[in-house]
Amino acid sequence: KRHLISAGDLSRDDALLILDTAEELAQVSQRSIKKLPTLRGRTVVNLFFEDSTRTRISFEAAAKRLSADVINFSAKGSSVSKGESLKDTALTLQAMGADAVVIRHSASGAPHRLAEWVDGSIVNAGDGTHEHPTQALLDAFSMRRRLGPLDGRRVTIVGDVLHSRVARSNVLLLATLGAQVTLVAPPTLLPVSVGSWPCEISYDLDGVLPKSDVVMMLRVQRERMNAAFFPSAREYSRRYGLDRDRLGRMPDHAVVMHPGPMNRGMEIAAEVADSPRSTIVEQVTNGVTIRMAVLYLLLGGAELEGGAQ
Ligand code: CP
Repeated sequence: KRHLISAGDLSRDDALLILDTAEELAQVSQRSIKKLPTLRGRTVVNLFFEDSTRTRISFEAAAKRLSADVINFSAKGSSVSKGESLKDTALTLQAMGADAVVIRHSASGAPHRLAEWVDGSIVNAGDGTHEHPTQALLDAFSMRRRLGPLDGRRVTIVGDVLHSRVARSNVLLLATLGAQVTLVAPPTLLPVSVGSWPCEISYDLDGVLPKSDVVMMLRVQRERMNAAFFPSAREYSRRYGLDRDRLGRMPDHAVVMHPGPMNRGMEIAAEVADSPRSTIVEQVTNGVTIRMAVLYLLLGGAELEGGAQ
């Protein structure tokens, strides 16, 4: 495949190839090999129109560990603030020779449009409320490392599904990988399309927790809500927050996930986020590995360990 725009575009074989390649890369870095020459001479452009900490930095780290040249573009401080369009911005970057463009944009569908205008590979790093496929891949990788193969595993995703590109990409990818997904959310924070998603819906968090292998908490995305509809933090955390008592309802082997950034004290208690049951820090580390695998596979790099340093 040339682009990674939707988790739904990945077949089971595609997804397993990415996860297995990431596993190979994780083994390589455990042997203290910091840098691989595989994408030497290639250029990766990070094109971020929306704020990001984890995704932007991890794509940069991933590209550099594969020896690619990296150009970081952020809309703030660029000619976008003078009104330059996405298309003209993209054509400018293309003229500078981008082999891959990693894009985050507030408009759902922006990566798809970009793929019509530039020759390089497009990687969706989050588009509006639509998708965030590399987040879903790093989440699946993190689950697999803790729990083994995902077939038949029960994953509960809790919270602001309406605004969550992470939830949609996870539901699509996890269904492809054979997991059973349940969404738990207030009815006002579920999208109307959710009935067609390959998952179940529940409004009873306490009933679902004892049957979960993974509980993934979502951030309440206040910046995408009309202020009049902000849920009260106290009421939200009482109904849908993961605190110590709820952690105690989960099976002993079950893990807690959150894509970050977190609203500590709202969707997740600080002591739960920092507990050994939480994979939140591992998710960030695994994000670099997954993004290395994605860039490597899309750009058809040389053999992984040839000339490693
Ligand atoms: N999980 C995630 O996408 O985080 P950032 O917004 O910091 O990239």
